[in-house]
Amino acid sequence: MSIKVAINGFGTIGKRVADAVDAQDDMEIVGVTKTGPSFGCGLAEKKGFPLYCTFDDADRISSFAESGYECQGGLSDLLAIADVVIDCAPGKMGADNLAKYKAAGIKHIFQGGEKHALTGQSYTSSANHADNLGVDGARVVSCNTTGLSRTLVPLYEHCGSLKVECTMIRRAADPGDSKKGPINAIAPVLKVPSHHGPDVMTVKPEIEINSLAVAVPTTIMHVHAIVADLPDGHGLTTESVLEMWRNTPRVIIMSGAGDRITTTAEVMEMARDIGRKWGDLHEIFVWEDGVKLNGNRLYYFQAIHQESDVIPENVDCIRAMMNTEADWRASVAKTDAAISAYYGL
Ligand SMILES: NC(=O)c1ccc[n+]([C@@H]2O[C@H](COP(=O)([O-])OP(=O)(O)OC[C@H]3O[C@@H](n4cnc5c(N)ncnc54)[C@H](OP(=O)(O)O)[C@@H]3O)[C@@H](O)[C@H]2O)c1
Repeated sequence: MSIKVAINGFGTIGKRVADAVDAQDDMEIVGVTKTGPSFGCGLAEKKGFPLYCTFDDADRISSFAESGYECQGGLSDLLAIADVVIDCAPGKMGADNLAKYKAAGIKHIFQGGEKHALTGQSYTSSANHADNLGVDGARVVSCNTTGLSRTLVPLYEHCGSLKVECTMIRRAADPGDSKKGPINAIAPVLKVPSHHGPDVMTVKPEIEINSLAVAVPTTIMHVHAIVADLPDGHGLTTESVLEMWRNTPRVIIMSGAGDRITTTAEVMEMARDIGRKWGDLHEIFVWEDGVKLNGNRLYYFQAIHQESDVIPENVDCIRAMMNTEADWRASVAKTDAAISAYYGL
């Protein structure tokens, strides 16, 4: 039986999650919402995703037809035909939307713009898939927290303990966003520590981690500079850490010198070259020559494609919540193979 998935908010994250769900053979998109007519409605129509209005009032629903789009109804109509809703609304709208999902009695997944407390349950595929089996509500953590989890969880699982300090060098805005900045400054986040590192502990509480963050004038990726202290007797070398990550799903290791990928610009060019839609990179990119284990202290850099690393995690989270796949590695393999086939890669 196919899981019926609604997407509430068909923006940067919503349109990508819709494609990733559409790629799977065990789930289907039953509808996506927009607040009103705009060019994104044309994308939904082109993909064959039924279009609904974010709100239930008749005036807003009829405004779609005035602009030539076919709207099937309001959010309540969509929630009534779905098994699970993926909330992809802008951050901090969660409380209002949660009340609607609870009233409709539907399972719900929020994104990283919401706080852990909203659902009391956070998710990344590699860290805590099993904790989310059968739950009614969860939050797929942010792009930064997802990226940190991808490389830190396997390290933690090898070592049994881990203390981490990291600095998030954050993109100022998404490429399609004309409202945010800075465009000519470096802006330290003056809430210390920043929320990014500690947020890892919502999915893997055993990792001791703190972070600082700065926003820089770029739109294409975040970079993390990470220092991890491993316990005595860890038995690792720089090469064996790299080998561990090579065997970790959704992590790519490439060389700055050998592959001539020395900045995020080349990482994104490589993602476009390999044919990912929107130039996405679901994997976390680690520079081979930026990794160094010095005694018990590990240094590394990684780059995060903020618009897309969380996308396959939403698919795995659906399977956890619907209790259809208990093994996170099996879900990840199924999700990623289906996405590759969907895009003909
Ligand atoms: N962008 C990233 O890099 C990124 C990465 C990871 C996680 N996230 C998180 O993902 C979530 C969505 O972010 P985004 O970047 O996709 O935002 P976005 O591009 O601004 O898209 C938000 C979408 O939600 C719709 N919307 C507005 N108000 C709504 C409401 N009350 N209920 C439902 N939908 C509503 C908007 O509709 P219209 O199109 O009609 O205006 C738009 O389609 C946030 O929690 C964010 O923190 C974002």
